[in-house]
Amino acid sequence: MSAEQMGEISKRLSVTFAVVSIVFVAVLAISPVKDYFSEWRRFQRDYVRYAQSRPDTKRLLTSFHPGIDQIWIPKMKVVDRCTTCHIGISEPGLKDSTVPQPFRSHPPIPHSPADWGCVICHRGQGLATEVPEAHQTTLAWEQPALPIRYIQASCGTCHLADLPQTPRLNKGR
Ligand code: HEC
Ligand code: HEC
Ligand code: HEC
Repeated sequence: MSAEQMGEISKRLSVTFAVVSIVFVAVLAISPVKDYFSEWRRFQRDYVRYAQSRPDTKRLLTSFHPGIDQIWIPKMKVVDRCTTCHIGISEPGLKDSTVPQPFRSHPPIPHSPADWGCVICHRGQGLATEVPEAHQTTLAWEQPALPIRYIQASCGTCHLADLPQTPRLNKGR
């Protein structure tokens, strides 16, 4: 092989190496970029902006921990990440109906959501961190979130006797 041919081959090899390196770095970058633009991160950035627009910013941001949040209760097989987006669910200051969803605090009910997570009453997919997966029927998950107008049915799965808090369910029964 002549020196000229060798030079040509080595030039081609370096070009190939450069191209492969660029592709490799691009592939490595996909995951963090995708993560940055994920839906739940967008909601969390919106939450911080919303908190900053309010007089109780300090309080709201002290109780906010960025990242995937979950209620984990092994005894009940509960792993619910709904609070990753429903960030203000236990914030008494965010109960006003002017607070945008998914940041509003939970309406008063006889149980604390932190004790049981959310799916036990609302159904939906507890592990999901995207709106359609969490709320709707998808290929990965058949059980959609229960429309709020039917939510009293969930109380009835445990409470077999009529409750004053569930007039619709009592009537149905
Ligand atoms: C990726 C963010 C995200 C996750 C995860 C999420 N939600 Fe939501 N949720 C929203 C947004 C945004 C809204 C308001 C707009 C809408 O209804 O889609 C909402 C609205 C709701 C509502 C009110 C619907 C109504 O009829 O007014 C309920 C109830 C609810 N979510 C329950 C849940 C439960 C239960 C889970 C977990 C299984 C969950 N969400 C997980 C973003 C989320
Ligand atoms: C013990 C059952 C129960 C649990 C557990 C529970 N919820 Fe609810 N949730 C309800 C009921 C009942 C309502 C309707 C209350 C009302 O309108 O007065 C409701 C209402 C809501 C609403 C408001 C819907 C609207 O139309 O404005 C959201 C959002 C919501 N729940 C999210 C959650 C999330 C997120 C969790 C978990 C952190 C959770 N809930 C846990 C029973 C429950
Ligand atoms: C997973 C089962 C379960 C679900 C779902 C459930 N409850 Fe209960 N509830 C209990 C248990 C167990 C107690 C008693 C212990 C306690 O207070 O936690 C109770 C206690 C109560 C009490 C206190 C008075 C009493 O009868 O003991 C009320 C009121 C009540 N629930 C209402 C509701 C309503 C309204 C819903 C629907 C939004 C609901 N519950 C959903 C299991 C459940």
